[in-house]
Amino acid sequence: MCGIAVCIDMNLITKRVKGTQDVLPSQSYKWQFVEKLLSDEAKLCGYKEIRTPVFEHTELFNRSVGETTDVVQKEMYTFNTKGGTSITLRPEGTAGAARAMLENAVYNDGLPIKVYYNTSCYRYEKPQAGRYREFHQFGMELYGTQSPSADADLICTVDSMFKRMRITDLRLEINSIGCPTCRAKFQQALKDYFSQYKDKLCETCLSRLDRNPMRILDCKSPVCKQIAEDAPTVLDYLCDECSLHFNKVRELLDCMGVKYTVNPKIVRGLDYYTKTVFEFVSDSIGAQGTVCGGGRYDGLVEELGGQAMPALGFALGMERLLSLMEALNIELPEPENCGVYFIGLGEPGQKEAFRLTREVRNSGIYADCDICSRSLKAQMKYADKIGARFTVVIGDDEVNTKKAVMKNMQTGEKFDICLDERFFETFTVGFLK
Ligand code: HAM
Repeated sequence: MCGIAVCIDMNLITKRVKGTQDVLPSQSYKWQFVEKLLSDEAKLCGYKEIRTPVFEHTELFNRSVGETTDVVQKEMYTFNTKGGTSITLRPEGTAGAARAMLENAVYNDGLPIKVYYNTSCYRYEKPQAGRYREFHQFGMELYGTQSPSADADLICTVDSMFKRMRITDLRLEINSIGCPTCRAKFQQALKDYFSQYKDKLCETCLSRLDRNPMRILDCKSPVCKQIAEDAPTVLDYLCDECSLHFNKVRELLDCMGVKYTVNPKIVRGLDYYTKTVFEFVSDSIGAQGTVCGGGRYDGLVEELGGQAMPALGFALGMERLLSLMEALNIELPEPENCGVYFIGLGEPGQKEAFRLTREVRNSGIYADCDICSRSLKAQMKYADKIGARFTVVIGDDEVNTKKAVMKNMQTGEKFDICLDERFFETFTVGFLK
C-alpha cells in the first residue's frame, strides 16, 4: 500500500485457519534455501521431480494408507464434490506419487524409477508445536528394487542431506516390520496381547483389535500408549527372508559408517510399509521430534492395481526441519539486498529511472525504482528500508546532461556515472568497487 500508513488495529474479516501457517517474505528465503538444497541432492542421486494434484479420490488413501490408520480414520480432509465424488486433500505424498507413476506408465522409462517431491499435506490433527493441519513434506520415492542396498542407499542419502545442512542432532532409528507372511504371526500375537485389555482400550483401538491390531501401537491416547509399552515386538516374528534383508541393510549402513539404533517399537503410522522402516528423530524441537520417516512398501503398487513392484521412500517435514535448524542456530544465507535504487524526480527523471532499472535488471542485478509517485525524501527512506547498496538520483539536470551520481549507501562514497551508451561501463566501476 503505497504512501498509506499501515493500520495496526485492523478489523480483519478473518484470520488464518487453525493449524495453518503463513511463510512471510522475511522468512521465505529459508524455505527456498532448504528446498533447493534437498532437490539438488535428490537430483545428484538421479531423482526427478514429480508433481501430483493436491486432492485425489478418497479411495486412494483408504487403500494405501489403510482404513484402520489414524490418518484415514481421524485426520483426512474429505469432502464430496458437487457431482458427488468423494475427494480427499492429500495427507501425504507417497500414495499420489505411486498412483501417478502407474497411471502414466512411468515404469516404461526403465527401472528403478526415482522421484522426489515438495508438497503441502493436510491432516486434521490437534495442532501443537511441530504439528499442523497444513504442513509440507519433501519426499523421495524409489520403485522397482527389492535389494537391501536400495534401503541402505536411501537412508545414506537422507543422512548426508542432514549432514549437508550441518544438522548433527538427529538420531536414526531403524526397524523391520516384515512381510505379509511374518506380519500375520505378529498380528496374532498382538491380538492375543491386547485382548487382555479390552475394557481399557479406546473405542478406535477396540475396532482395530480384529481388523489390524498393529495400528493400536500408534494410538495417541495415553491409556492405549501405556498398554502398548509391553506389547510383543515385531523383530521377534520376522521370517528368515525378512531377517536376512534387515541384516543386510544394517551391514551396509555399518559399512557406510552411518550411525543408527534398532528400535523394535517403530511400526510407522501408515499401513503400506513392509520390511525396513526408519525415522530420524530430534530431542531439540519438543514432543513432535520425528523430522523424517520412511521405509519400504513392497505391496503398495500392486494394491493400487499395478503389477507387483517393490518400492521404498521417505518424507521429511519441512516445518520440523526448519524449526530444528533454528533450534540449532544454523544460519541460512539471506537473500541479496537491492543492488541499486534509482530515485526519479519529475516526469523525465522518473522515466529515465524506470528505463535504467530495467536495463540493470536485464543484466541480472537486483535494481529498483519508485512506482508509487513518492517524494525524494520518501524514496530515500524506502531505499534505506530495503537496504539498497547504491542510490542514484535522477532529475531534470541528470536527464539533460546525461550524467548522474551513484552513492554507496554504506560508505557514502560517490561515483560519477553516464546515462548514455557508457552507462554500463561507468556503472560497473562503482558497483563492483
Ligand atoms: P509420516 O511419518 O506420516 O510419513 O510423515 C513424514 C514426516 O512428515 C514426519 O516425519 C513429520 O516430519 C512430517 N509430518 C507428519 N505429520 C505432520 C504434521 N501434522 N505437522 C507437521 N509435520 C508433519 C509419510 O507421510 C510417508 N508418506 C513417508 C514415506 C514416503 N514413506 C515412504 N515414502
